[in-house]
Amino acid sequence: MLLGVLTGGGDAPGLNAVIRGVVREASVEGHEVIGFHDGWRGVMDGDHMELTVEGCRGLLDKGGTVLGTTRINPFMRDDGPSACRQSLDALGVDALISIGGEGTLSCTQEMYKLGFPVVGVPKTIDNDIGLTEMTFGFATAVDIATEAIGRLHTTAESHDRVMVIEVMGRHVGHIATWAGIAGGATVTLIPEHPFDIVEVCDALRRRHQRGKYASIVVVAEGAKPVPGSLDVPEDTFDEFGHIRLGGIGELVAGEISSRTGFETRTTVLGYVQRGGQPNAYDRVLSTWYGVEAARAAIDEDFGAMVAYQCGTVQRVRIADAVDGLKYVRPELWNVANRFFA
Ligand code: F6P
Repeated sequence: MLLGVLTGGGDAPGLNAVIRGVVREASVEGHEVIGFHDGWRGVMDGDHMELTVEGCRGLLDKGGTVLGTTRINPFMRDDGPSACRQSLDALGVDALISIGGEGTLSCTQEMYKLGFPVVGVPKTIDNDIGLTEMTFGFATAVDIATEAIGRLHTTAESHDRVMVIEVMGRHVGHIATWAGIAGGATVTLIPEHPFDIVEVCDALRRRHQRGKYASIVVVAEGAKPVPGSLDVPEDTFDEFGHIRLGGIGELVAGEISSRTGFETRTTVLGYVQRGGQPNAYDRVLSTWYGVEAARAAIDEDFGAMVAYQCGTVQRVRIADAVDGLKYVRPELWNVANRFFA
């Protein structure tokens, strides 16, 4: 068999480890693999490279993706699906492994409905894909955010300041919640629970009254105030219809400063959460996903997505996984809440 691989959407630590896992499993089973450049763009254009076990040396801990990635999908071109069909037929690809987040996997599901032999792998530092307890890249992002919070603690304490740190998380607050707990945040704000700025300021005042003059406020980039409670700029969108975020941290910091008088600073963590090496957990999970995705492709279990559930990697249907986002569990949010000032 000839397997194809693509990486789509925003990058995440562990993409290369998944590719390496696919190639190793395919090779052990006597199959070959090619990789398409820049996600579905490469499939439409037949733009690809050979992937061999030798060529994958050094990929386990390498950040980014050697294949390149874009958000381009075949439905953006009238001839997109037929161009994909022609290029897969011409190259003799029997199965296509699509590694991506919500957008890429939704498109992969649409291609499956058109009869394409696809298998999905859930990727995103946001960890918001349904039916899998973990997407790869998330654990590394949490480590990076936690380390940053730790560093902010010492400078906050030295200057008696409130530090607002904005982390990624467009629709969900997994990174903010985990890093907030791990980093000992005073308050954490996530998209799932619109915040009341009056309550946030009261929490900080209570803490200061207890003699603690430094506080950390973790804000997910998609966090929103209770409707009508604060003026927020209108949402804007990129050319792929993705909401453009960034700025809520600065807004929250400004409100805290003007309402409480506490000296407040903002850090927007941004793309360092996505760049660089995967941690040990993500190297293992990505490798496991890659091996299992190759097996699913070899089994011709098309329309399947690999998923981490109950301590093992299983196969679920892509259609079910992209049916809805996975939000922060109320049980974990309650744990985080117990420590809010
Ligand atoms: O990968 C998910 C994510 O990190 C989101 O949290 C963030 O909003 C988005 O990607 C930004 O990605 P880009 O700027 O590449 O569109």
